[in-house]
Amino acid sequence: MSAVGKPITCTAAIAYEANKPLTVTEIVVDPPKAHEVRIKIVKTAVCHTDAYSLSGVDPEGLFPCVLGHEGSGIVESIGADVTNVKVGDHVIALYTAECGKCKFCLSGKTNLCGSVRATQGKGVMPDGTTRFHDKDGKPIYHFMGCSTFSQYTVVADVSLVAFDKSVSFEPTALLGCGVTTGYGAAIKTANIQKGDTVAVFGAGTVGLSVVQGAKSRGASKIIVVDLNNDKKDWSFEFGATDFVNPKELKDSEDIVSKLIEMTDGGLDFTFDCTGNVNVMRNALEACHKGWGQSIIIGVAAAGQEIATRPFQLVTGRVWRGSAFGGIKGRSEMGGLIKDYQSGTLKVDEFITGRRPFTEINAAFEDLHNGSCLRTVLDTST
Ligand SMILES: NC(=O)c1ccc[n+]([C@@H]2O[C@H](COP(=O)([O-])OP(=O)(O)OC[C@H]3O[C@@H](n4cnc5c(N)ncnc54)[C@H](O)[C@@H]3O)[C@@H](O)[C@H]2O)c1
Ligand SMILES: [Zn+2]
Ligand SMILES: [Zn+2]
Repeated sequence: MSAVGKPITCTAAIAYEANKPLTVTEIVVDPPKAHEVRIKIVKTAVCHTDAYSLSGVDPEGLFPCVLGHEGSGIVESIGADVTNVKVGDHVIALYTAECGKCKFCLSGKTNLCGSVRATQGKGVMPDGTTRFHDKDGKPIYHFMGCSTFSQYTVVADVSLVAFDKSVSFEPTALLGCGVTTGYGAAIKTANIQKGDTVAVFGAGTVGLSVVQGAKSRGASKIIVVDLNNDKKDWSFEFGATDFVNPKELKDSEDIVSKLIEMTDGGLDFTFDCTGNVNVMRNALEACHKGWGQSIIIGVAAAGQEIATRPFQLVTGRVWRGSAFGGIKGRSEMGGLIKDYQSGTLKVDEFITGRRPFTEINAAFEDLHNGSCLRTVLDTST
């Protein structure tokens, strides 16, 4: 029997409070209102940003909420005035919306979009209310405009993109955050060119995706810097030419001088994919004088600040940042999916584990395991 226009009771993982395991339980998901879409989530993965918000240090992390922002599924029903997707479409939830009409979207300068930003940060839909309730009718907050840790979710129509049904749900779930973030930062934000030298700090899903973007552009040197030697083989597999573990440097060396020596004066591009502000400084200072650019991707803990001597910038190094790899989710995702289909963009290789949805807390534990990249959850189990 169709649930169109009616609430759906389904299983979700609720974060009731910071630093506590999620509770897998039944919730009620209301039907979508105007310009909203209800999605049956098929696959979802856990990203560090979910763990960051669950830890309670994210000012936008509100409880109780349904976390999750890497997910794909099927459109179950649409609210009034939705024209970009139809029932049955296969879609990726987008935490970086694209309305095509706001000042940001029209600028041609950024992938940030202002259309749902204010309400998204408050854990509610654009009308200021939630579509999630517990069995007693108490509201449960949304998260990053996605909330994929539920069998059903409701998102704004500007916060999803349809993809060709020949592509499966697992890789498309991963394209919802980490892989797109790193790959986009390399090919869009930095716009790496053939022959450029690149250093990537942190070889998680994000950093390794920067590596593959740099490789696809023909970078001449791609140096991965990571404290964990387990990341060495992966780095080479994704296209790195060198791997440096800062813990293994000689007493006389530091990571900045080592990188400058390896590249005859510094790198054309460096990327922070760790979220550590000391690493961010090193990444900037390892850039080549006159033109080197350092791109911050990692999310630092609340209240942290970055520092360097102004002379580093006076002498031509550039500090930049990148959210979701600078990729416009609705108009540019199709290109990334083509790169995946042609083999230029590896995605399946990031899946280091699969679990039933009921094991979601174990999937969070996996994140702390150095050999984990992404654990994919199947919401039907
Ligand atoms: N800007 C965005 O849009 C965006 C999107 C997704 C994720 N992120 C952030 O990107 C970062 C990376 O995400 P991930 O999923 O790849 O994380 P991850 O934990 O899987 O990978 C981080 C890697 O950094 C390494 N590392 C840690 N400290 C280091 C140090 N001092 N020097 C060198 N290496 C170090 C770790 O060993 C690990 O391999 C996180 O901060 C995440 O929150 C940002
Ligand atoms: Zn993420
Ligand atoms: Zn917009």
